[in-house]
Amino acid sequence: MCKNLTAFLQQYAQKHQFRGHMPGHKGKSFSPELETAYTFDITEIHGADSLFEANGILQQAERKTAEVYGVGGTCWSAGGSTLCIQAMLARMKAEHRIIIAPRTVHRAFLNSCILLDLPVKWIYPESGGFLDGKYTLTAFEQALQEVNFPACVYLTSPDYSGNVQNIQEISALCRKYQAKLLVDNAHGAHRAFLPENQHPIILGADYCCDSAHKTLPALTGGAFLHMRNSSEKIFFKQNMQLFGSTSPSYLIMQSLEECTEWLMHSGKKAISECAQRAERLKQKFSGKYIFLGNDPMHFTIQANGENLAEQMRNLAVPIECEYADKSRFVILLSPVMTEKDFSQLEKALFACEPLPAETPPECPSPMEQSLSLREAGLAEFEILPLSEAENRICAAVQVPCPPAVPIAVSGEKLSPECLAVMEFYGVQTVAVVKESI
Ligand SMILES: Cc1ncc(COP(=O)(O)O)c(C=O)c1O
Repeated sequence: MCKNLTAFLQQYAQKHQFRGHMPGHKGKSFSPELETAYTFDITEIHGADSLFEANGILQQAERKTAEVYGVGGTCWSAGGSTLCIQAMLARMKAEHRIIIAPRTVHRAFLNSCILLDLPVKWIYPESGGFLDGKYTLTAFEQALQEVNFPACVYLTSPDYSGNVQNIQEISALCRKYQAKLLVDNAHGAHRAFLPENQHPIILGADYCCDSAHKTLPALTGGAFLHMRNSSEKIFFKQNMQLFGSTSPSYLIMQSLEECTEWLMHSGKKAISECAQRAERLKQKFSGKYIFLGNDPMHFTIQANGENLAEQMRNLAVPIECEYADKSRFVILLSPVMTEKDFSQLEKALFACEPLPAETPPECPSPMEQSLSLREAGLAEFEILPLSEAENRICAAVQVPCPPAVPIAVSGEKLSPECLAVMEFYGVQTVAVVKESI
């Protein structure tokens, strides 16, 4: 057996000139830019192992990732955190757990609930908008008391703006009520490598998903599903193959291996440096910009983000952000960014003039659920302008991505307050369940 996946792919590319297997490009690309990628893009051939039944180099590689993160077990995903979320929720379905979640969930969570026919008990924020609501521990405790079943809490942390929840406190609460804690850590794959380990599993979560591709050097689609207890890995493998493609990309998997190696050797230092550089910039510009969030890879500014994004696009060296709306502007940093990148950002912050943020409307609460998530999510629908959608039932969730955080979820009645929030975020049309004539 080769020492790792990268070595296997290199050896295979050198030795095998005739490929009698998929993919159909046979390692040959029409464009020189893609040639190297095509050479290493293979399928489950002899010696390459198979992700969902891994017992060779992929199993070894996953074990290494788990070790680097200091968790019980890890499954690789070439289908992003989306696939990990599907697998985590399928596990909750098998355990008949009621799901409790704050409203900051990503569309991937809702789609999984639709597919698995899982109801959700929502927690509404004490204050703030649907993107950055403030949730109290009391609200979590109340929800846990209200459900009479085995439960689980599903947290999104960090959220899109870089707000991190108090996972330690919430996990202690979950233990008190024998509930499991699942964390959507899609935006926090780097958090295990901060000077003090802040990874959800270390802080008490049972399972979490990390999109390696969001804040670490990995190809789009590369993610990790981490668990506290390695004996559960068998269930997650089964659940992932239920939803994932039977041909997970070897290129993505190779990038997860390289990312793991990088984390092992240089990650901690690079992540600390990046966090320090970001903090220095925030200090330097604290008189000019208002910074939000407490995760170091999220460089979030409270301002008219749409205007700031346009200013940044028009600089001599343009900067494209991750997300902007009328109340915020988000740049997603990464530990591979160099001193030069940061000086670029510094120049941009110096050159731009932020306009004040518009205040986003409060998160509408509580919403009236007229149909189940599944009934509405899979129903016949029509697209209506907001002006004609009042009191209609939200069908499949259609939200702009990013941030893909739904304002109304499938099955909920679209109240005037909810439509006002949609209008604020520039949503023009909404999918509603078709009424029978
Ligand atoms: C909070 C959150 N969770 C989950 C996802 C889905 O992650 P992925 O794109 O890795 O499937 C995203 C994607 O942007 C996200 O922002």
